[in-house]
Amino acid sequence: MLTLGIETSCDETAVAILENARTVRSSIISSQITLHERYGGVVPELASRAHVDNINIILQEAIKEAACDWHDLNLVAVTNGPGLVGALMVGVAAAKGIALSLSIPLVGVHHIYAHIYANWLAFDNIVFPCIALIVSGGHTTLLFMESHKEWKLLGATIDDACGEAFDKVARHLGLSYPGGPIIDALSEKGDPSAFKFPRALLGDESLNFSFSGLKTAVAREASLFNQDKLQESIADFAASFQEAAVDMLVEKIRRAVLKTKTGRILLAGGVAANRRLRYKLEQLKEYGAVESIYIPPPSLCTDNAAMVACAGYNEYKNGCQDTLTLDVKPMWEMDE
Ligand code: KG4
Ligand code: ZN
Repeated sequence: MLTLGIETSCDETAVAILENARTVRSSIISSQITLHERYGGVVPELASRAHVDNINIILQEAIKEAACDWHDLNLVAVTNGPGLVGALMVGVAAAKGIALSLSIPLVGVHHIYAHIYANWLAFDNIVFPCIALIVSGGHTTLLFMESHKEWKLLGATIDDACGEAFDKVARHLGLSYPGGPIIDALSEKGDPSAFKFPRALLGDESLNFSFSGLKTAVAREASLFNQDKLQESIADFAASFQEAAVDMLVEKIRRAVLKTKTGRILLAGGVAANRRLRYKLEQLKEYGAVESIYIPPPSLCTDNAAMVACAGYNEYKNGCQDTLTLDVKPMWEMDE
């Protein structure tokens, strides 16, 4: 069975072809980073236009790389939310057109749910129940999954997403976009205890996240430094901010493990590529309740269409299917 996956929710035009549950026949990603870099973040109208320019080319490349024909496709899975409305519409329109012309089923996929499926692409030994942490530029979400179909929202950010905090802090430090990988790399040379930035844990029990106080604290401290001084301390700023952000994520996972008595943890989303987060999560294993931690390779953590195809395949196998009235849901909440 061949599933075509399409992802256009933000600033990546991505198409993939998945054979059965786990074999990625092709995965093409056209990133718009250079387009948005100079604005310090994604400009929605520019993103939509770039998707329009790219989508047909990327679709054809994916077919070519998978060495298949359009008529070999059996299912179309597309991200239909949450995300930028104009960007989502490009992918959904393409998916509907393909499903209609080939007379094959169509499945709309939640972008955050799709991120989790990077784990099913990367590992073949995942057992339910498990905890999933999705940390991306738009979301910070903690889920308890009992099966592919049954899951509970444990917690989410009450303000900025974790990746958004990385990107905004990078901007305050005069670094370019996206800030996450740059802060990750700079931190290697910095001292994580150079600055004492706050860790907002929202009480002893909460599984929600908050990053805006940390972001503001870093911006305030940086504003006290002149340009030369800031450049001298930039690695310490990066490492101290990153340490605080990672500590918050790790603490919430620790709490979720205790609360659900489940020691299997899946990580997903762009921030899952962060090396310090990966390192500190591995350390959690020493704390007995954590059994296994699944972290997909960085290329599957950031936006891609293979994860969308994989999530769509699982939804279809579990009886889900959409019609050609499928619409975009820019504000689609995880627990809707
Ligand atoms: O999942 P993703 O590609 O797109 C969204 O759905 O948002 O995540 C992008 C986010 C950006 O905020 C980026 O700065 C962050 O992931 N990111 C990282 C790293 N690589 C990407 N954050 C921290 N460390 C990284 N190595
Ligand atoms: Zn994403």
